[in-house]
Amino acid sequence: EMIKEFSGLTLLEDTLRKKLKLEDVIVVSGNSDVSPWVKKELGRACATCINKRLKGNETIAVAGGTTLAAVAEMMIPDSKHQNILFVPARGGLGENVENQANTICAKMAERANGHYRLLHVPDQLSQEAYQSIIEEPNIKEILEIIRTSNMVIHGIGDAKTMAERRKTSFQDLEKIEKRYAVGEAFGYYFNQEGEVVHKVQTVGIQLDDLKKIPCVIAVAGGASKAKAIKAYMKQEINHILITDEAAAKELIREL
Ligand code: F6P
Repeated sequence: EMIKEFSGLTLLEDTLRKKLKLEDVIVVSGNSDVSPWVKKELGRACATCINKRLKGNETIAVAGGTTLAAVAEMMIPDSKHQNILFVPARGGLGENVENQANTICAKMAERANGHYRLLHVPDQLSQEAYQSIIEEPNIKEILEIIRTSNMVIHGIGDAKTMAERRKTSFQDLEKIEKRYAVGEAFGYYFNQEGEVVHKVQTVGIQLDDLKKIPCVIAVAGGASKAKAIKAYMKQEINHILITDEAAAKELIREL
């Protein structure tokens, strides 16, 4: 805590919390765009935050991405974890297996001594396939569990980076660019006003569900994500934001 005072991180946290009207902000030092260990520190800060907020018997929905993978790495067992159920927040979004929500969810549960359930649906479904899959009894049951989670932990990405990292079709890439998307979370692409300009068709938590979830934690760092974080936070969901110094400073400049 003393180190935090000296480095001005507390001031960054307070400023962001007020400007973005968030429940809490945690800032770790450094820039995860350039130093891989900073992403690990984001993971550690998030794991600590999760443990602090758990009471037991909760369901935690987790998203995909490299930052969430770092959170999973840093999870440590806690006596309150015994009845914690980890589930993926949404179906596949075109990520590599190590960055998929299912993989991260299983890993988190293993490290935390919790339980997990997975969601097996193909990525980027057609409208017809989507409609029929959500009517499957097994899928229906797990979807209900996911959408009524007590806690959601997710990453935020730069729109272009995410569209390129996923196997996005040429038409969708064009749409994302033409509509000036700057940020992405959960398969939703946002412009700088925070409006949804494109959405990947998949099952799981929808943006509207977030408003009913008591604890939503977003973890995203690196100066390159400042615009994305700013756009996404216009959703006015009472978030906890865990970020790094470089993203925080850039964000404050933008606000
Ligand atoms: O694709 C899953 C996802 O959580 C996205 O919603 C988000 O933009 C991205 O991963 C973040 O990835 P990373 O932590 O690797 O930057």
